[in-house]
Formats: sequence, C-alpha cells, structure tokens
Amino acid sequence: MKAAVLDKFGHVDVMELRELPIPEVGDDQVLIKVAAAGINPIDWKIREGWMSDRYGKEFPMVLGFDASGTIEKVGSGVQGFTPGDAVFARSNVGAGGCYAEYVVLNANTVVHKPDRLSDEEAAAIPLAALTALNGLRDVGRVRPGHKVLINGASGGVGVYAIQIAKNMGAEVTAVCSAGNSDLVRELGADAVIDYTRQDPLASGDTWDLIYDAVGSLKYLQAREHLTPEGVYMTLVPVADIDFFFPGQTKIEARGGYFLVWAPTAADLQILADWVDEGRLYSIIDSSFPLDEIRAAHERSQTERAKGKIVLTLQE
Ligand SMILES: NC(=O)c1ccc[n+]([C@@H]2O[C@H](COP(=O)([O-])OP(=O)(O)OC[C@H]3O[C@@H](n4cnc5c(N)ncnc54)[C@H](OP(=O)(O)O)[C@@H]3O)[C@@H](O)[C@H]2O)c1
Repeated sequence: MKAAVLDKFGHVDVMELRELPIPEVGDDQVLIKVAAAGINPIDWKIREGWMSDRYGKEFPMVLGFDASGTIEKVGSGVQGFTPGDAVFARSNVGAGGCYAEYVVLNANTVVHKPDRLSDEEAAAIPLAALTALNGLRDVGRVRPGHKVLINGASGGVGVYAIQIAKNMGAEVTAVCSAGNSDLVRELGADAVIDYTRQDPLASGDTWDLIYDAVGSLKYLQAREHLTPEGVYMTLVPVADIDFFFPGQTKIEARGGYFLVWAPTAADLQILADWVDEGRLYSIIDSSFPLDEIRAAHERSQTERAKGKIVLTLQE
C-alpha cells in the first residue's frame, strides 16, 4: 500500500510516499481502506519531533489520527462491523497511521459514517470535534444558558466547538479575525470579537467557560473574567494551569486546565448522531491528494486554516 512515511523527525521534506505492507488485523481491530484522512496540528508537531515522549520514536512512522473509508477486514473479536461498511474513526494507535491506503485501528474508536457526509467531511471530524466535545462537556460542563468564549473559533477545533456549544444550549462568543466573522456567525456564534482589533478579555463580560484553542489568553488574566463557578481551559499548555485527564471529575471553580482526553466510539457516535440530525457539519479549508502531503502540512503550519485540512486517498 502507498503511505506517507517518516524515517526521521524534521521539516516537511522528511515525509515521502512509498510502499509499505498492508498491516495485519488484531482480534479487536478492523482494517480500513482509507478514502480520506484528516490533518491536525499535532501531526506536524510530531513530525518536527516535539512529541516523542508521548508518541515515540519508532520509524518508519505514519502520521494521521483521522480516517474515513470502508471496512476491509474485521478481527475475530469484533462485532458490529462487516467488510464494505462505510466508517470514520479516530486512531489511538501509535502516531495515528491514517496517511496510508489502509490502516488497522482498534474497533473501539470506529463508528459507522453518517450517509450525509462525504469522506472528506467525515475525516475532518474525529480528533477536532472530539476535542471540542470533551472540553465543553467534561471540563466546561456547559449547560443551557452558559456563556462560552471560544478563542480560535475559525480553526479546526473551533468550527466544531461553536456548533457543539450551541447544541448544548450555550450563548457563544467567537474570537477570530475579521475575515472569518461571517463563517463563525453561520456556525451559530451569537457574538464575535476580532482579536486583531480588541483584546478578547476587554469586553467587560464574564464567562462560564473560556475555551482557548490557541493558548494566547493568559490564564491568570482570563480567570478575572470568569463567573464564580467558571473555568478556563486551553488546548495548548500555558503557564499556571493544571492538567485535566480522562475520567477526572473534580473541577475547581475558576480553575485553569489543559485538556487531555481519550477517544471513544461512544463519543464519536454522539457526533455522528448530531450530523444525522443536521446539527453538526464540517468546514473544509482545503483538500490535498496523498502525494501532496508536504503542501498539506505547510498549510497547517501557517496556523491560518479556516476549518479543516484533509487528505484524499481515492478518486
Ligand atoms: N489538547 C488537545 O487535546 C488538543 C487537541 C486538538 C488540538 N490541539 C491544539 O489546539 C490548537 C488548535 O488546533 P486547531 O486544529 O484548531 O488548529 P488550526 O486549525 O491550525 O487553527 C487555525 C486557526 O487559528 C486561528 N488563530 C490563530 N491565531 C489566533 C489568535 N491569536 N487568536 C485567535 N485565533 C487565532 C486562525 O484564525 P485567523 O486566521 O483568523 O487568525 C485559524 O482559523 C493547536 O495548537 C493544536 O495542536 C490540542
């Protein structure tokens, strides 16, 4: 099979297309023929060598945590999938493995793909939208009427965070540059702050959740703009925060947390159900064929994506 492969960490040119054997399926796994794969900033951070404590240094390495495609083979212990099923998934195997024509994934992170999504739209969802869901639900404990500030609202995570916060009944203020204002309003934002013209925290408002998908708001400053039970959470480690781990239930009022989470099929199914109900959709910034993987990473590293970047693997 063709795959985008790394043999060492470095700049985009360390990724090259070459043939690898199709991986073997374990008992609790499925083999997916990949039609589209999502690109996430974590991918280029791993490629640069910044994440080797967490994702290892084993080469050859294939990146990519999001896939959409069809089931090719099913492990002996797996129920609920048969060859030919259209699925989408969030890899929890190594550095992901989805930038390839085939990927073996643990079945507990795979769900059936909603019919209304193209493969590109489906591959955009898992990592980014699960990050939004986990942060809003588990750290922010967002309830109807809560006021939520989303910083980085036009990016890969932000476009889902707006929609999910609205699905939870929140009042959403989106922080983005002026050119993305129409987009975030279409996604449901009730108010928009242009961070290039105004400090997002200087509006005089207080928030039940400040969801910082950029890491540009300082926590000690942000906490002064939280309601008495409010919480600040960030996707990028910043000073003075704690870590929020999967399964953690204790949240300090006016605390600051960096989100750490684990993907589950149950959460991905919540997102699939919202898609089926017309309450969640994808915004595609750009799409690249597998052999343009370097250009896809260059686009991601601009940190200017408007929605999601995806790779296509089949015509
Ligand atoms: N902890 C976790 O589990 C986790 C999970 C997912 C992602 N992350 C991290 O979270 C970050 C965001 O991920 P992503 O996929 O959303 O990234 P992304 O798609 O690359 O984000 C790009 C967006 O960020 C906006 N942006 C850049 N600087 C900004 C600023 N100072 N203020 C407000 N918006 C700004 C850009 O808008 P403009 O063009 O308008 O500036 C653009 O739309 C990444 O660092 C990623 O690695 C962490």
